[in-house]
Amino acid sequence: MAADKVKADLAELKTKKLPIIFIVGGPGSGKGTQCVKIAEKYGFKHLSSGDLLRDDVKSGNPRGEKLDKMMKAGQLVPLEVVLDLIKEAMIASKNAKGFLIDGYPREVIQGQQFESEIWECSLVIYYDVSDEVMTKRLLGRAATSGRVDDNAETIKKRLVTFHNQTKPVVDYYDKKNKLATIKAEGTVDAIFADSCKVIDQMLSKK
Ligand code: AP5
Repeated sequence: MAADKVKADLAELKTKKLPIIFIVGGPGSGKGTQCVKIAEKYGFKHLSSGDLLRDDVKSGNPRGEKLDKMMKAGQLVPLEVVLDLIKEAMIASKNAKGFLIDGYPREVIQGQQFESEIWECSLVIYYDVSDEVMTKRLLGRAATSGRVDDNAETIKKRLVTFHNQTKPVVDYYDKKNKLATIKAEGTVDAIFADSCKVIDQMLSKK
């Protein structure tokens, strides 16, 4: 899509003042699982940066091979690629009541860039899970996920990337009073109930 058209479409979407929630957490922390439930309850559009990237690779886009290699290595892909995919998906979801941006930002600069080019997030939910639990969950999923990064070696690398590059995002939004940390080692339903509490609080302030 041409850059001017994207800018104009986003400007139009911005006038609706829809809530934007960033969903942050390590690999296997349960971001995707919770987003599906939250999206269903609140009518928000769930946009997973990982899913958008995997779809882009599958689409046969020439940059796909490079992206696939980076994901296999547990590294972050270039910021502009992810942000462009998110922008286009947001524009295509004009009837949403809000947006759940799952797996983004992975670095402070990603959040800053998003907020300057699109609009400010209302809330950041951080699912806090130990490395041991995340590893166990991902190894459990590996048999069926078909994902290039669900193997012991890549999971270790994904965890390093998370601690080095994404943890600062948590501190950054904490200082801005936008962070809700949810201990996320309990049942899916208990974590969902905690997520709803913070979302209801955010909506009541709007
Ligand atoms: P991405 O697809 O975002 O992967 P991830 O962050 O590693 O997280 P997952 O999708 O694997 O896990 P999740 O937290 O969603 O947990 P889930 O609900 O699935 O990113 C993949 C790659 O793409 C990155 O490594 C990077 O290369 C690239 N990328 C993505 N975003 C990027 C960005 N913004 N910038 C640059 N690069 C980017 O659950 C996991 C398992 O646990 C499932 O089997 C589930 O059933 C189970 N489970 C969930 N909750 C519970 C629970 N409460 N109890 C027991 N089991 C549970």
